[in-house]
Formats: sequence, C-alpha cells, structure tokens
Amino acid sequence: MDDKQNVPADPRSAAPVTVPRFVAAKRQKRRLAVLTAYDYTWAGIVDAAGVDAILVGDTLGMVVQGHDTTLPVTLDQMIYHAEMVTRAVKRALVIVDMPFMTYQVSPETAIANAGRILKETGAACVKIEGGVNQAETIRAMTAADIPVMAHVGLKPQSVRMLGGMGKIQRDEQQLFADARAAQDAGAFGIVLELIPRQLATAITAELEIPTIGIGAGPDCDGQVLVLNDMLGLTDGFQPKFLKRYAELHGEAVRAAAQYVTEVREGTFPDDAHSHE
Ligand code: KIV
Repeated sequence: MDDKQNVPADPRSAAPVTVPRFVAAKRQKRRLAVLTAYDYTWAGIVDAAGVDAILVGDTLGMVVQGHDTTLPVTLDQMIYHAEMVTRAVKRALVIVDMPFMTYQVSPETAIANAGRILKETGAACVKIEGGVNQAETIRAMTAADIPVMAHVGLKPQSVRMLGGMGKIQRDEQQLFADARAAQDAGAFGIVLELIPRQLATAITAELEIPTIGIGAGPDCDGQVLVLNDMLGLTDGFQPKFLKRYAELHGEAVRAAAQYVTEVREGTFPDDAHSHE
C-alpha cells in the first residue's frame, strides 16, 4: 500500500477500487485499465483479470441487443445489466452508463435516474456524455453525492446530430472547454473518445482527474475498450484504435459447428459423456 494515498500498489490486489482510489491512481502515475461488461459471467472474468473498473456501457444496445446505435437502450435495461455485473464483481469499480434522455432533460431527472442506478444495482458511479452542455447536471449530481464520469470527444448518443458515428473529433477549443467544464463541475474522471493523440496528451496533462481514452492514444491516464470488440466476438468491426486480443467469434463458431456435426453423426454423446 502507498501510505500517502492509501491506494494498493499492486493493481490486482484484493482491495476494492473505490472512486477516491480510482482518482488517486493519476497522482500515483498508475495507468487505469477499464473494460466493458454486461452480464455476470463476463464481469466475473474481467474482474478476475484485474481491471480497475468495469463499465456497464450503453454499447450493450449494439453488442448485446443488436441495434445500430445506443439510443434505444432504456434505464430499466441498464439497471438489469448492471445488477448482473455487480453480483459478479469483487474488486473493480463498477461504472454505469446513463442512457439517452435519462439525464439530458433536467438535472433533477438526472439525479432521480442516477439515484435509481446506485440504489438498485449497488454500482458506485455513473457516466454521462457531455462537457460544457452537461456541466450544470454534473454539478447537481455531484452535489447530491452521485459520482459522475464525463465522456467527451465522440459522443455516441449524439449520433443523430452528427449524422453518423465514428468521425475523429478535432475541435481543440471545444474539447478543452468540455474537459475543463466537466472537471470544474465535479466529474471524477472523463472518457476521451476518438480524438487525436496529441490533443488527448495535452488534455491529460492539464486535468487533475483521470482521462480514460478510447481511440485517443497512449498518453491518457487509462484506457477503455468494449469487451466484445477486444475479444474478437464482434465480427468484422476493426477501427484503427481497436486491438483484438483474441478471436472468439471464429472459435465459438468452430465449436458450435463441431457440436452440430457430432450430433448429426451420432458421435456425441459418446461413452465418456453418458451415465451407466
Ligand atoms: O458505452 C460504452 O461502452 C462506452 C465506451 C465506448 C467508452 O461509452
């Protein structure tokens, strides 16, 4: 343990990651590893791997539910998935995305909806998309003791305004303004999505709260990837920033196809898999 910060030196130590510990990692110059997870099985695997935080992302609308965007995801669905995740997690900080239109309407609505997430799931904190435009809401939520992570750069919930997903965000002035506004309003951390590497480096150097990059280069305080993408479960999705650490889609298809063949041939179940 680091005496000054009370933060475990070993990222895989058994001590649960709290919001203050997550924030202290920046001062300790310890990089934060974050992955998404959406259910009990995968959350347990990711937690056992030693991640600092698990994001129950509204990307579940795409990788679990099969929608083209994250917009259809509801608050009840996020709560349903977050409950499964918190049941499995022993150590990682669990962050839950607030879905589209559950915080944009008013700070009061945001507090009520985030309150439901914290009370009904046991998660420690929420994430919302926005900087300058959500500063008032972040301020109100943190004043109500709800830890908030902000998300700037590419904001997938703005897909209708942007006319599509996936473009690198290059407006330096806007990005700095958003990051500063989120921090000043009380956000404990901030996701930087799809922004040029040099810009992410400069924002990370200026902010006191941890920056968590996705498609924002190596100099952020931490990184986040969508689990299904980095495990190669999502077929054919290969943006430049994504490193696939496994090819589970192909492996799962191979295993299922072998099962189909063996059932049809009558070679499964064999003696070894039958009761006398
Ligand atoms: O919903 C999500 O999974 C996210 C990550 C892409 C950061 O917001």
